[in-house]
This record gives sequence, structure tokens and C-alpha cells, in this order.
Amino acid sequence: MNGYRCIACNETQAAGFEGFVCPSCGNNLQITYDYASIAKSVADGFDAKAEGIFRYGALLPVNSGADGMPLRVGGTPLYAAPRLGESAGLRNVYIKDDTQNPSASTKDRASAIALCRAMETGADVVAVASTGNAGSSTACLAAALGLQAIVFVPESAPVAKLTQSLSYGARVVAVRGNYDDAFDLCLAASDEFGWFNRSTGHNPFTREGKKTCTFEIWESLGCRVPDRVVVPTGDGNLLSGIWKGWHDLHALGLIDHLPKIDCVQSEASAAISNAVRQIRQDPNVEPNWSSLRIEKVDASTVADSISVDRPRDGLAAVQAVIRSGGEAVTLPDEEILAAIPELAHATGVFAEPAAAAPWAAVKRMAQDHRIMADELIVCIVSGSGLKDIAGARKSVAEPLVVDANIDAVRRVLR
Ligand SMILES: Cc1ncc(COP(=O)(O)O)c(C=O)c1O
Ligand SMILES: [Zn+2]
Repeated sequence: MNGYRCIACNETQAAGFEGFVCPSCGNNLQITYDYASIAKSVADGFDAKAEGIFRYGALLPVNSGADGMPLRVGGTPLYAAPRLGESAGLRNVYIKDDTQNPSASTKDRASAIALCRAMETGADVVAVASTGNAGSSTACLAAALGLQAIVFVPESAPVAKLTQSLSYGARVVAVRGNYDDAFDLCLAASDEFGWFNRSTGHNPFTREGKKTCTFEIWESLGCRVPDRVVVPTGDGNLLSGIWKGWHDLHALGLIDHLPKIDCVQSEASAAISNAVRQIRQDPNVEPNWSSLRIEKVDASTVADSISVDRPRDGLAAVQAVIRSGGEAVTLPDEEILAAIPELAHATGVFAEPAAAAPWAAVKRMAQDHRIMADELIVCIVSGSGLKDIAGARKSVAEPLVVDANIDAVRRVLR
């Protein structure tokens, strides 16, 4: 890395800058690289000896990962999903199974890079605000690295995510409020106590971790660019990270065009989608990013991971959807929940509500003729269904309960 650029006002900072946000306007920062020198170092490919995301070390802003991270982060499979695709008349649907990360969500990509950064700056306490997954992920990797994690979550976070964090030894602060309250408290406490704050979006290293998902997709597709990548979106950091990954590959001359990045949200938590639609009302006018305000919403959705009032990486996500020509799809909770068993049954991959939402969005776009039958589509399956059993339970039938004899089995199966 060679510095930072503000995503709103474009002001740059040198690589030695120690803050997280733009000192001039307070917006999030984008980490910048010297692509010419990286291009030389990856001319013969990425680091074959390193595991998971650290194979892409040349494109990462930390040096300590390949030797310092005890757990394998990333390196997750991309599966072709022909039966799933056919059910919506589509021929080229793939799913990126990011449930296969150490804490069972895509958040581990961001936590790994942020925690390496924390260690490189000498921090031993890492705080994070979370709807649940960023917390359990930070707790998991902090445990592996011997750091102390402090996790701020809404009191209502799914019990599996809370239990994960507690088991990994994090101090869990369950806030009587929502994710946005937890976020503001984590900021204030990190300032007061001098903790390293890993919170999504606010910490620029999180986007750099998420972008590794793109590098893996690209390689799994035999170095092809898909037509679209469909991303469940709350704060917008996963989406902006996935876009950053394609941007990096393009800047290195490894790809000659970019995919569309589709933003998937619940109708009841749609701040980023609302902003995209607002901008598109006048497609001839380039938005003034430094004055763009993303209106906050009053979020409430069964997809707790993407239930966000005020997206903390919203501007970068809106830019990514607009610049890539992607769709902003908003869905009712029923469609999100119905996608869980559909995905599980057609692929064998069990997703939490937010992680099933991309498939629900793809179906919706296919019904509305917004995508063609042979487009190459990648759905990001970002968190395991085991993290929110109560959510999944709402979308499946009851088991067949029988007395313990074969007659009873015959009766129910008849
Ligand atoms: C499973 C899952 N999917 C998607 C997201 C959305 O990521 P972001 O908040 O960066 O938009 C999250 C965030 O918590 C998540 O846990
Ligand atoms: Zn700025």
C-alpha cells in the first residue's frame, strides 16, 4: 500500500497515517497501492506457498498474515449450481460458499486483515460493533492470535452468534438498542480506552479483507469475469470490498472489463438501495459524492446481518453499484426466508437469511427480465444457516413426528 484516499473528497494521506477516516471531511478512506510495482511482483502468479487470503499478499496492506495467522481464512469454494439456476430459467449460476470460513461467515476475511493490522500497530485489544457475525469473527481470530476482543452487539443478536463470541473468550457487551447504537458506543469506547476499532467500514482495512473474495472468484472461474456478482448488503462494506477487488485486478491489467455488482437488501433496511435509485432518477448527472447524503432508515428485518439504519460504508457501496451498472434489489422478508430451503435443497449449502438473500434477488431479477438466461452470475453466500436457526426454522415445514413403530412410519409416509 502507498497511502489512503478519501472516498468522498479524494484527499490523500500518506501510508504512515494512523487515523481511520478522512481528517478533512470525516468520510471513509480507500487504501491505495502502487500497482506498477505489484504488477511486477505478481507477473508469475500469486504466492503459491501462502494459504487462503494470504496468497494475495502482494495486494494486501499487511505483511504479517502469511506467517502470523494460525487459521485458514478464505480459500472457500465456488460451486456451480445448475439445479438452482434452472429453477429460475438460468444456465450459469454459481455460489461462493463463504460459510466455510473459521467462524462461518465472510466477515473472517475482514477480521483477518484488520487484526493483522492491529498486531502490526502494537494493539492487544480489538473492539468491534456487530450485528453478530463481525463480532464472532473478531472473537474467533483474536482467540487464534492471542488478542483480547471486545464485541458490541444489539441485545437481540441471534443466540448462536453471541454464544460463538463468548466461547472464543470475547467480552461481549450486549447493548439495549440496535446495531447503530452498538456502533456508536464502540466508537466512543474505543476512543476513550484506546482500543483498536475493527468496526466495519469505519476501519479501512476491512474493505481490503473483503476484496479477497473477488480474487478467489476470479481464479475459480479460470480467470474469467462474471457478468454479475450479487451481494447481501447492510453497511455496504462487503459490496464495496468485492468491487475493490475487481478494480485491483483491472488496475493490474489482469482483466479487461468489470462485472456488475448487484446490491441486495431487505425492503425494510434499504438505505443504500434508496440512494442508488435516487441517483438514477437523473442518469445524466454525475453525483457530487462529497455532498451526497445517504438517508438513514428505520431498519427491521429477519435478515439480522443486513439490518442497518445508517450504513457505515454506504457511500463506497453506492459508488460501486452506480459505477458498475449493477441493480439495487429490495426484497420482502418472506422472499428472503423462502430462499434458505431453496438454496439448501438445490445445492447442499445452508445459509442464514442475509446469505440466502442474493438467490432471492436473482430469482426476482429473472422474473422481471432484468437478467438474461445465460449470464454468469455469482451469489455470495456470506454466512452459515447454523448461525440463525430461528430464522431458518420459519421457512421450513415441521418434521413428521411418529410413535416408535414401523406402522406409524408407514402411515405418515403413505
Ligand atoms: C452473513 C452476512 N452477509 C452480509 C453482510 C453484509 O455486509 P455489509 O454489512 O458489509 O454490507 C453481513 C454483515 O454483517 C453478514 O454478516
Ligand atoms: Zn474527505
